[in-house]
Amino acid sequence: MRVSVIGCGHLGAPHAAAMAELGHEVIGVELNPETCRILQSGRGAFYEKGLDDLLAKHVPTGRLRFTSNLAEAAEFADLHFIAVGTPLREDGRGYDVDQVVGAVRSLAPLLRRPCTIVGKSTVTVGTVARLQEIVTAEAADGVDLVWNPEFLREGHAVEDSLYPDRIVAGLTSSAAQKAIEEVYAPILARNDVTLIVTDPPTAEVLKSAANAFLATKISYINAMAEVCELVGADVSTVAYGLGIDPRIGHGGMRPGIGYGGGCLPKDTGAFTWRVGDLGATHAHALLQAVEDVNHSRLDAATRLVERAYGAPVDGARIAVLGASFKAGTSDVRNSPALRLAGRLHEAGARAVIYDPESNDAARRLHPEYAYAGDAATALEGAEVVVLATEWPQFTHDAKFPSSAGEVVQRKVLVDVRNAVDSDAWVAAGWEVWQLGRPEQLPKV
Ligand SMILES: NC(=O)c1ccc[n+]([C@@H]2O[C@H](COP(=O)([O-])OP(=O)(O)OC[C@H]3O[C@@H](n4cnc5c(N)ncnc54)[C@H](O)[C@@H]3O)[C@@H](O)[C@H]2O)c1
Repeated sequence: MRVSVIGCGHLGAPHAAAMAELGHEVIGVELNPETCRILQSGRGAFYEKGLDDLLAKHVPTGRLRFTSNLAEAAEFADLHFIAVGTPLREDGRGYDVDQVVGAVRSLAPLLRRPCTIVGKSTVTVGTVARLQEIVTAEAADGVDLVWNPEFLREGHAVEDSLYPDRIVAGLTSSAAQKAIEEVYAPILARNDVTLIVTDPPTAEVLKSAANAFLATKISYINAMAEVCELVGADVSTVAYGLGIDPRIGHGGMRPGIGYGGGCLPKDTGAFTWRVGDLGATHAHALLQAVEDVNHSRLDAATRLVERAYGAPVDGARIAVLGASFKAGTSDVRNSPALRLAGRLHEAGARAVIYDPESNDAARRLHPEYAYAGDAATALEGAEVVVLATEWPQFTHDAKFPSSAGEVVQRKVLVDVRNAVDSDAWVAAGWEVWQLGRPEQLPKV
């Protein structure tokens, strides 16, 4: 099938690459000329696991190409994915959907034959109805609009695009359903994915509800970390014991510094505002509490660093390992890791950041912070090491505690992701401080 993907950022670029991998002929439309140039050179404009491999495979053959010319895509494709951004409005009152409305408004008049527009961006409940009016007024007869929200996890964007657990399609015609079944045919043929065909408002709510539920789980276990700290209990054991219950499950139950990134904070914020605006007072109160807990985690993490250091951190030499909002991506949007580094910097600490993939992105956002080109340089002389992003080279390399221990001034680890095997670090002579857990000190 000939498809276009309009907007080639963190969602669109992996989606375009995955569509090519599924056998479609794909044209990606990206307004940012630099992003478009990098993608057309066969690599990602940011780090996302597995993305470069697919781009290097499909761009040189011409199966996948990138352009900033929307008319070329309108002419070429029979199905157009919309994957442009929907940032939170500056006043916090829901999404700014200008990119989505702008993309559909530009595309619709160019569509002169029957085809399908498939929205993947996350939008406020009610947006699709507004877009449908534009399509009906501006596009030729037989142009259908489907809402097909995306559930991929950054850091696994390529894998999740190729192997989704569900495909949700909010649509109103059998032709639109046929187009969805055709474009996802290689995935649906595997029989391990659920296709949910529904109406557009249900598709819109489903996506927002999914992200809000995940945020709720994360904030719930983080709230329990707060309780554990007050009574000297261990939240890791609490989380493990809770998750055994199949009604609860272990997913999203690792305590830490809170959720971040380009999606969960804005999606939860936008949904919180929208349900309040709709008058759903209990849903609003619940989600507001979820957001409040999340905001409180930066204070909890800062206090933990101060406890581990034994004093206010003014003048302390601190290594911050990680800047991305999570491992597997160079995305630093709303990154709790970078926020914590900023807090320490503002408190007068001599904080040096090292992230294996996002140093450049972090430096662009915060040139005022100090960065190291490798882990050893960041660790050199550190009095506290803050593990801020759970990269496997920090958390799963059995040799890392010993090698890191050779260059630091004090072996004090503050793991705000609760991601390391604390016993292994303690065995290598480190003090380990994690959120919601008693500190673990080496035996003397
Ligand atoms: N990032 C994720 O993991 C993820 C997951 C699920 C859903 N989503 C949703 O997907 C949407 C995109 O998110 P993102 O993280 O990829 O954002 P992003 O900012 O990384 O990417 C958006 C891209 O669209 C481009 N763009 C904007 N208007 C355009 C136009 N008219 N034509 C062509 N290109 C245009 C921008 O230049 C940018 O590169 C959002 O609604 C987000 O909520 C994202």
